[in-house]
Amino acid sequence: MITKMKDKVYWVGAVDWESRHFHGHELSIHRGSTYNAYLIVDQKVALVDTVWTPFADQLMSNIREVVDPAKIDFVIANHSEMDHAGALPEVMRHAPNAELIVSRKGAESIPGHFHEQWPTKPVKTGDKIGLGENELVFVEAPMLHWPDSMFTYLTGKNILMPNDAFGQHYATAHRFNDEVDQSELFEECLKYYANILTPYSSLVTKKIEEVVGLNLPVDIIAPSHGVIWRKDPLQIVNKYAEWAKQIPQQRAVVIYDTMWGGTRRMAEAIGEGLAEAGVDNKVYHAVTADRNDTLMEVFKARTVIVGSPTLNNGLLPTIWPILQDLKGLKFKNKIAGAFGTYGWSGEGVKVIEEHLRDCGFEVPVAGVKYKWQPTAEHIEGCRAFGREIGKATKNAEHGEHAE
Ligand code: FEO
Repeated sequence: MITKMKDKVYWVGAVDWESRHFHGHELSIHRGSTYNAYLIVDQKVALVDTVWTPFADQLMSNIREVVDPAKIDFVIANHSEMDHAGALPEVMRHAPNAELIVSRKGAESIPGHFHEQWPTKPVKTGDKIGLGENELVFVEAPMLHWPDSMFTYLTGKNILMPNDAFGQHYATAHRFNDEVDQSELFEECLKYYANILTPYSSLVTKKIEEVVGLNLPVDIIAPSHGVIWRKDPLQIVNKYAEWAKQIPQQRAVVIYDTMWGGTRRMAEAIGEGLAEAGVDNKVYHAVTADRNDTLMEVFKARTVIVGSPTLNNGLLPTIWPILQDLKGLKFKNKIAGAFGTYGWSGEGVKVIEEHLRDCGFEVPVAGVKYKWQPTAEHIEGCRAFGREIGKATKNAEHGEHAE
Protein backbone atom coordinates (compact mmCIF):
# COMPACT_ATOMS: atom_id res chain seq x y z
CA MET A 1 0.00 0.00 0.00
CA ILE A 2 1.34 3.42 -0.93
CA THR A 3 1.27 6.55 1.24
CA LYS A 4 0.82 10.06 -0.11
CA MET A 5 3.34 12.33 1.64
CA LYS A 6 2.55 15.55 -0.19
CA ASP A 7 0.82 16.36 -3.45
CA LYS A 8 2.56 14.25 -6.13
CA VAL A 9 5.04 12.70 -3.69
CA TYR A 10 4.49 9.11 -2.55
CA TRP A 11 6.08 6.52 -0.28
CA VAL A 12 6.21 3.37 -2.41
CA GLY A 13 8.49 1.21 -0.24
CA ALA A 14 8.00 -2.00 1.70
CA VAL A 15 7.47 -2.97 5.35
CA ASP A 16 9.50 -5.96 6.53
CA TRP A 17 7.72 -7.30 9.62
CA GLU A 18 9.60 -10.57 9.53
CA SER A 19 13.36 -9.99 9.57
CA ARG A 20 15.17 -10.09 12.91
CA HIS A 21 18.71 -9.86 11.53
CA PHE A 22 20.43 -7.49 9.15
CA HIS A 23 23.82 -7.39 7.38
CA GLY A 24 23.65 -11.18 7.41
CA HIS A 25 23.54 -11.73 11.16
CA GLU A 26 25.69 -8.78 12.20
CA LEU A 27 22.87 -6.54 13.42
CA SER A 28 19.77 -7.54 15.37
CA ILE A 29 16.52 -5.82 14.37
CA HIS A 30 13.97 -6.85 16.98
CA ARG A 31 11.23 -4.73 15.45
CA GLY A 32 11.78 -5.57 11.76
CA SER A 33 12.43 -2.74 9.31
CA THR A 34 11.13 -0.85 6.32
CA TYR A 35 12.81 -0.10 3.01
CA ASN A 36 11.60 3.31 1.96
CA ALA A 37 11.41 4.39 -1.68
CA TYR A 38 9.92 7.70 -2.78
CA LEU A 39 8.16 8.47 -6.05
CA ILE A 40 7.88 12.05 -7.30
CA VAL A 41 5.48 12.73 -10.15
CA ASP A 42 6.31 16.15 -11.57
CA GLN A 43 6.52 16.85 -15.31
CA LYS A 44 9.33 14.34 -15.02
CA VAL A 45 9.01 11.26 -12.82
CA ALA A 46 11.72 10.39 -10.30
CA LEU A 47 12.14 7.40 -7.99
CA VAL A 48 14.41 7.99 -5.00
CA ASP A 49 15.94 4.69 -3.83
CA THR A 50 14.49 1.21 -4.23
CA VAL A 51 14.02 -1.64 -1.74
CA TRP A 52 15.73 -4.86 -0.69
CA THR A 53 15.64 -7.47 -3.48
CA PRO A 54 12.92 -9.78 -2.01
CA PHE A 55 10.53 -6.80 -1.97
CA ALA A 56 11.12 -5.77 -5.62
CA ASP A 57 7.69 -7.00 -6.80
CA GLN A 58 5.99 -5.04 -4.06
CA LEU A 59 7.88 -1.90 -5.07
CA MET A 60 6.88 -2.32 -8.72
CA SER A 61 3.26 -2.90 -7.77
CA ASN A 62 3.30 0.23 -5.56
CA ILE A 63 4.81 2.33 -8.36
CA ARG A 64 2.10 1.07 -10.75
CA GLU A 65 -0.57 2.39 -8.39
CA VAL A 66 0.72 5.88 -9.23
CA VAL A 67 2.34 5.74 -12.63
CA ASP A 68 3.45 3.38 -15.38
CA PRO A 69 7.08 2.49 -14.46
CA ALA A 70 8.03 3.03 -18.11
CA LYS A 71 7.44 6.74 -17.47
CA ILE A 72 10.18 7.01 -14.84
CA ASP A 73 12.82 9.49 -16.04
CA PHE A 74 15.26 9.38 -13.12
CA VAL A 75 16.14 6.70 -10.59
CA ILE A 76 18.20 8.14 -7.75
CA ALA A 77 20.35 5.59 -5.91
CA ASN A 78 21.50 7.44 -2.81
CA HIS A 79 23.46 4.38 -1.62
CA SER A 80 24.40 1.05 -3.18
CA GLU A 81 23.77 -1.24 -0.20
CA MET A 82 21.36 -4.04 -1.15
CA ASP A 83 18.57 -2.99 1.21
CA HIS A 84 18.10 0.12 -0.97
CA ALA A 85 19.61 -0.77 -4.32
CA GLY A 86 18.64 -4.45 -4.43
CA ALA A 87 15.59 -3.82 -6.62
CA LEU A 88 17.49 -1.67 -9.15
CA PRO A 89 17.68 -4.44 -11.79
CA GLU A 90 13.88 -4.86 -11.63
CA VAL A 91 13.25 -1.11 -11.72
CA MET A 92 15.69 -0.44 -14.57
CA ARG A 93 14.18 -3.31 -16.56
CA HIS A 94 10.73 -1.73 -16.32
CA ALA A 95 11.97 1.83 -16.82
CA PRO A 96 13.93 1.62 -20.07
CA ASN A 97 14.18 5.40 -20.46
CA ALA A 98 15.36 6.11 -16.92
CA GLU A 99 18.74 7.62 -16.15
CA LEU A 100 20.39 6.39 -12.96
CA ILE A 101 21.61 9.22 -10.71
CA VAL A 102 24.37 8.35 -8.24
CA SER A 103 27.07 10.05 -6.20
CA ARG A 104 30.60 10.02 -7.58
CA LYS A 105 31.46 7.09 -5.33
CA GLY A 106 28.16 5.45 -6.30
CA ALA A 107 29.43 5.46 -9.88
CA GLU A 108 32.03 2.96 -8.62
CA SER A 109 29.96 0.91 -6.16
CA ILE A 110 26.77 0.43 -8.21
CA PRO A 111 28.56 -1.22 -11.16
CA GLY A 112 30.65 -3.12 -8.59
CA HIS A 113 27.48 -4.65 -7.18
CA PHE A 114 25.37 -5.14 -10.29
CA HIS A 115 27.76 -5.36 -13.27
CA GLU A 116 25.20 -3.66 -15.51
CA GLN A 117 25.63 -0.90 -18.08
CA TRP A 118 22.74 1.33 -17.02
CA PRO A 119 22.84 4.95 -18.31
CA THR A 120 24.33 6.63 -15.28
CA LYS A 121 24.97 10.22 -14.25
CA PRO A 122 27.25 10.86 -11.26
CA VAL A 123 26.40 14.01 -9.28
CA LYS A 124 28.23 16.00 -6.62
CA THR A 125 27.10 18.27 -3.80
CA GLY A 126 25.06 21.18 -5.12
CA ASP A 127 24.17 19.54 -8.44
CA LYS A 128 20.50 19.83 -9.40
CA ILE A 129 18.09 18.07 -11.69
CA GLY A 130 14.93 19.85 -12.83
CA LEU A 131 11.72 17.83 -12.68
CA GLY A 132 9.45 20.57 -14.07
CA GLU A 133 7.91 22.47 -11.21
CA ASN A 134 10.54 21.43 -8.65
CA GLU A 135 14.15 20.32 -8.54
CA LEU A 136 16.19 17.61 -6.90
CA VAL A 137 19.33 18.87 -5.16
CA PHE A 138 22.09 16.46 -4.16
CA VAL A 139 24.42 16.47 -1.16
CA GLU A 140 27.17 13.86 -1.03
CA ALA A 141 27.53 12.35 2.45
CA PRO A 142 30.58 10.08 2.27
CA MET A 143 30.93 7.63 5.17
CA LEU A 144 27.43 8.31 6.46
CA HIS A 145 27.73 5.45 6.34
CA TRP A 146 29.35 4.22 3.08
CA PRO A 147 31.64 6.17 0.73
CA ASP A 148 28.76 6.38 -1.78
CA SER A 149 26.08 7.70 0.62
CA MET A 150 24.18 10.73 -0.63
CA PHE A 151 21.23 12.91 0.46
CA THR A 152 18.57 14.05 -2.04
CA TYR A 153 16.45 17.15 -1.41
CA LEU A 154 13.22 18.03 -3.24
CA THR A 155 12.63 21.77 -3.58
CA GLY A 156 9.11 23.14 -3.42
CA LYS A 157 7.97 20.22 -1.24
CA ASN A 158 10.92 20.76 1.15
CA ILE A 159 11.62 17.07 1.60
CA LEU A 160 15.07 15.83 2.59
CA MET A 161 15.70 12.18 1.69
CA PRO A 162 18.97 11.36 3.52
CA ASN A 163 18.90 7.59 2.97
CA ASP A 164 20.22 5.73 6.05
CA ALA A 165 20.81 8.86 8.14
CA PHE A 166 18.03 9.57 10.67
CA GLY A 167 16.48 6.12 10.01
CA GLN A 168 15.47 3.26 12.26
CA HIS A 169 14.93 -0.47 11.84
CA TYR A 170 11.30 -0.24 12.87
CA ALA A 171 8.42 -1.95 11.06
CA THR A 172 5.17 -0.12 11.78
CA ALA A 173 1.62 0.06 10.50
CA HIS A 174 2.09 3.83 10.16
CA ARG A 175 4.50 5.82 8.03
CA PHE A 176 4.98 9.01 10.09
CA ASN A 177 6.81 9.76 13.33
CA ASP A 178 3.83 11.29 15.11
CA GLU A 179 1.78 8.10 14.65
CA VAL A 180 4.00 5.62 16.52
CA ASP A 181 5.17 4.83 20.05
CA GLN A 182 7.81 7.47 20.81
CA SER A 183 9.89 5.40 23.24
CA GLU A 184 10.14 2.53 20.73
CA LEU A 185 10.99 5.00 17.97
CA PHE A 186 13.82 6.71 19.82
CA GLU A 187 15.21 3.43 21.13
CA GLU A 188 15.49 2.19 17.55
CA CYS A 189 17.03 5.51 16.43
CA LEU A 190 19.65 5.25 19.17
CA LYS A 191 20.37 1.58 18.47
CA TYR A 192 20.89 2.47 14.80
CA TYR A 193 23.20 5.37 15.64
CA ALA A 194 25.20 3.46 18.27
CA ASN A 195 25.75 0.38 16.12
CA ILE A 196 26.28 1.98 12.72
CA LEU A 197 27.18 5.65 12.95
CA THR A 198 29.25 5.98 16.14
CA PRO A 199 32.61 5.70 14.34
CA TYR A 200 31.61 8.48 11.96
CA SER A 201 30.40 10.87 14.65
CA SER A 202 32.75 13.70 13.66
CA LEU A 203 31.45 13.44 10.07
CA VAL A 204 27.87 13.52 11.39
CA THR A 205 28.60 16.82 13.13
CA LYS A 206 30.19 18.33 10.01
CA LYS A 207 27.43 17.12 7.68
CA ILE A 208 24.72 18.55 9.95
CA GLU A 209 26.53 21.90 9.99
CA GLU A 210 26.90 21.77 6.20
CA VAL A 211 23.25 20.94 5.54
CA VAL A 212 21.99 23.51 8.07
CA GLY A 213 24.31 26.04 6.35
CA LEU A 214 22.50 25.46 3.05
CA ASN A 215 19.42 27.09 4.61
CA LEU A 216 17.06 24.72 2.87
CA PRO A 217 13.57 24.73 4.34
CA VAL A 218 12.80 21.24 5.65
CA ASP A 219 9.19 20.18 6.13
CA ILE A 220 9.85 16.46 6.02
CA ILE A 221 12.87 14.24 6.60
CA ALA A 222 12.28 10.98 4.81
CA PRO A 223 14.97 8.39 5.62
CA SER A 224 15.31 5.02 3.94
CA HIS A 225 14.32 2.98 7.03
CA GLY A 226 11.47 3.34 9.49
CA VAL A 227 9.11 6.24 9.92
CA ILE A 228 9.16 9.57 8.11
CA TRP A 229 9.77 12.67 10.23
CA ARG A 230 6.98 15.13 9.51
CA LYS A 231 6.23 16.42 13.03
CA ASP A 232 9.13 18.56 14.22
CA PRO A 233 11.48 16.90 11.71
CA LEU A 234 14.55 18.66 13.09
CA GLN A 235 14.18 16.84 16.41
CA ILE A 236 16.07 13.86 14.97
CA VAL A 237 18.77 16.16 13.57
CA ASN A 238 19.19 17.64 17.06
CA LYS A 239 19.39 14.14 18.55
CA TYR A 240 22.11 13.20 16.06
CA ALA A 241 24.02 16.39 16.90
CA GLU A 242 23.83 15.43 20.58
CA TRP A 243 24.75 11.77 20.04
CA ALA A 244 27.67 12.75 17.81
CA LYS A 245 29.27 14.47 20.82
CA GLN A 246 29.40 11.08 22.61
CA ILE A 247 29.02 12.58 26.06
CA PRO A 248 28.04 9.61 28.17
CA GLN A 249 25.86 9.23 31.22
CA GLN A 250 27.17 8.24 34.67
CA ARG A 251 26.35 4.61 34.03
CA ALA A 252 28.34 1.42 33.60
CA VAL A 253 28.11 -1.80 31.63
CA VAL A 254 29.72 -5.02 32.83
CA ILE A 255 30.25 -7.63 30.09
CA TYR A 256 31.61 -11.10 30.78
CA ASP A 257 31.81 -14.70 29.74
CA THR A 258 32.42 -17.52 32.18
CA MET A 259 33.34 -21.23 32.15
CA TRP A 260 32.10 -22.51 35.51
CA GLY A 261 30.47 -19.44 37.03
CA GLY A 262 33.48 -17.82 38.76
CA THR A 263 33.79 -14.86 36.41
CA ARG A 264 29.99 -14.48 36.44
CA ARG A 265 30.03 -14.16 40.25
CA MET A 266 32.78 -11.57 39.92
CA ALA A 267 30.73 -9.64 37.32
CA GLU A 268 27.68 -9.52 39.54
CA ALA A 269 29.73 -8.40 42.57
CA ILE A 270 31.35 -5.63 40.49
CA GLY A 271 27.84 -4.51 39.50
CA GLU A 272 26.89 -4.43 43.20
CA GLY A 273 29.97 -2.34 44.00
CA LEU A 274 29.14 0.11 41.22
CA ALA A 275 25.59 0.42 42.58
CA GLU A 276 26.96 1.02 46.10
CA ALA A 277 28.96 3.89 44.63
CA GLY A 278 25.75 5.28 43.11
CA VAL A 279 26.43 4.20 39.54
CA ASP A 280 23.55 2.43 37.83
CA ASN A 281 24.75 -0.44 35.70
CA LYS A 282 23.81 -3.43 33.59
CA VAL A 283 25.55 -6.80 33.66
CA TYR A 284 25.57 -8.74 30.37
CA HIS A 285 26.66 -12.27 29.61
CA ALA A 286 28.43 -11.74 26.28
CA VAL A 287 27.03 -14.94 24.79
CA THR A 288 23.37 -14.83 25.78
CA ALA A 289 22.85 -11.04 25.65
CA ASP A 290 22.12 -9.45 22.28
CA ARG A 291 25.41 -7.93 21.09
CA ASN A 292 23.82 -4.87 19.49
CA ASP A 293 21.63 -4.12 22.52
CA THR A 294 24.74 -4.39 24.69
CA LEU A 295 26.55 -1.93 22.39
CA MET A 296 23.65 0.52 22.68
CA GLU A 297 24.10 0.44 26.47
CA VAL A 298 27.86 0.87 26.05
CA PHE A 299 27.18 3.94 23.88
CA LYS A 300 25.12 5.52 26.68
CA ALA A 301 27.47 4.58 29.53
CA ARG A 302 30.65 6.25 30.76
CA THR A 303 32.18 2.97 31.89
CA VAL A 304 32.62 -0.45 30.36
CA ILE A 305 34.11 -3.35 32.35
CA VAL A 306 34.99 -6.60 30.62
CA GLY A 307 35.68 -9.98 32.21
CA SER A 308 36.89 -13.37 31.00
CA PRO A 309 38.60 -16.36 32.51
CA THR A 310 42.08 -16.96 31.13
CA LEU A 311 42.10 -19.65 28.45
CA ASN A 312 45.23 -20.77 26.60
CA ASN A 313 47.14 -17.67 27.77
CA GLY A 314 44.37 -15.45 26.43
CA LEU A 315 40.59 -15.05 26.65
CA LEU A 316 37.52 -17.10 25.97
CA PRO A 317 36.93 -16.81 22.19
CA THR A 318 33.33 -15.83 22.91
CA ILE A 319 34.35 -12.48 24.44
CA TRP A 320 36.24 -11.32 21.35
CA PRO A 321 33.27 -10.23 19.19
CA ILE A 322 32.29 -7.55 21.71
CA LEU A 323 35.94 -6.52 22.22
CA GLN A 324 36.24 -6.11 18.45
CA ASP A 325 33.14 -3.90 18.42
CA LEU A 326 34.46 -1.77 21.28
CA LYS A 327 37.45 -1.01 19.07
CA GLY A 328 35.72 -0.84 15.67
CA LEU A 329 32.98 1.52 16.79
CA LYS A 330 35.57 4.01 18.09
CA PHE A 331 33.64 4.97 21.22
CA LYS A 332 34.87 8.19 22.83
CA ASN A 333 34.97 9.44 26.45
CA LYS A 334 34.94 6.01 28.08
CA ILE A 335 36.66 4.62 31.11
CA ALA A 336 37.13 0.89 31.40
CA GLY A 337 38.28 -2.01 33.56
CA ALA A 338 38.95 -5.76 33.44
CA PHE A 339 38.46 -8.82 35.61
CA GLY A 340 38.41 -12.61 35.50
CA THR A 341 39.33 -15.90 37.08
CA TYR A 342 42.30 -18.07 36.17
CA GLY A 343 43.81 -21.45 36.95
CA TRP A 344 47.53 -21.17 36.26
CA SER A 345 48.96 -18.57 33.82
CA GLY A 346 46.39 -15.79 34.40
CA GLU A 347 47.07 -13.36 31.51
CA GLY A 348 43.37 -12.69 30.78
CA VAL A 349 43.02 -9.42 32.68
CA LYS A 350 46.21 -8.03 31.15
CA VAL A 351 45.04 -8.96 27.63
CA ILE A 352 41.70 -7.22 28.20
CA GLU A 353 43.32 -4.11 29.69
CA GLU A 354 45.72 -3.80 26.76
CA HIS A 355 42.80 -4.09 24.36
CA LEU A 356 40.75 -1.49 26.24
CA ARG A 357 43.68 0.96 26.18
CA ASP A 358 44.00 0.23 22.46
CA CYS A 359 40.36 1.28 22.13
CA GLY A 360 41.38 4.67 23.54
CA PHE A 361 39.68 4.06 26.89
CA GLU A 362 41.16 5.22 30.18
CA VAL A 363 41.79 2.33 32.61
CA PRO A 364 41.88 4.13 35.98
CA VAL A 365 41.71 1.14 38.34
CA ALA A 366 43.92 -1.98 38.08
CA GLY A 367 41.88 -5.04 37.12
CA VAL A 368 41.02 -7.87 39.52
CA LYS A 369 41.80 -11.52 38.97
CA TYR A 370 41.35 -14.49 41.29
CA LYS A 371 42.61 -18.05 41.10
CA TRP A 372 40.06 -20.85 40.71
CA GLN A 373 36.65 -20.09 42.15
CA PRO A 374 36.43 -16.75 44.03
CA THR A 375 36.06 -16.94 47.81
CA ALA A 376 33.74 -14.69 49.84
CA GLU A 377 36.74 -12.44 50.39
CA HIS A 378 37.40 -12.31 46.66
CA ILE A 379 33.79 -11.39 46.02
CA GLU A 380 34.19 -8.54 48.49
CA GLY A 381 37.34 -7.55 46.50
CA CYS A 382 35.18 -7.38 43.37
CA ARG A 383 32.67 -5.15 45.16
CA ALA A 384 35.54 -2.89 46.24
CA PHE A 385 36.76 -2.78 42.61
CA GLY A 386 33.21 -1.87 41.54
CA ARG A 387 33.06 0.91 44.14
CA GLU A 388 36.42 2.29 43.05
CA ILE A 389 35.62 2.30 39.36
CA GLY A 390 32.21 3.71 40.30
CA LYS A 391 33.97 6.65 41.95
CA ALA A 392 36.09 7.16 38.84
CA THR A 393 32.89 7.06 36.75
CA LYS A 394 31.35 9.83 38.83
CA ASN A 395 34.52 11.92 38.75
CA ALA A 396 35.00 11.65 34.99
CA GLU A 397 35.47 14.96 33.23
CA HIS A 398 32.49 15.22 30.88
CA GLY A 399 28.99 15.80 32.16
CA GLU A 400 25.96 13.68 31.46
CA HIS A 401 23.79 14.20 28.43
CA ALA A 402 20.06 14.15 28.55
CA GLU A 403 18.42 11.06 27.09
FE1 FEO B 1 23.47 1.22 4.42
FE2 FEO B 1 20.15 0.82 4.89
O1 FEO B 1 21.78 0.54 4.04
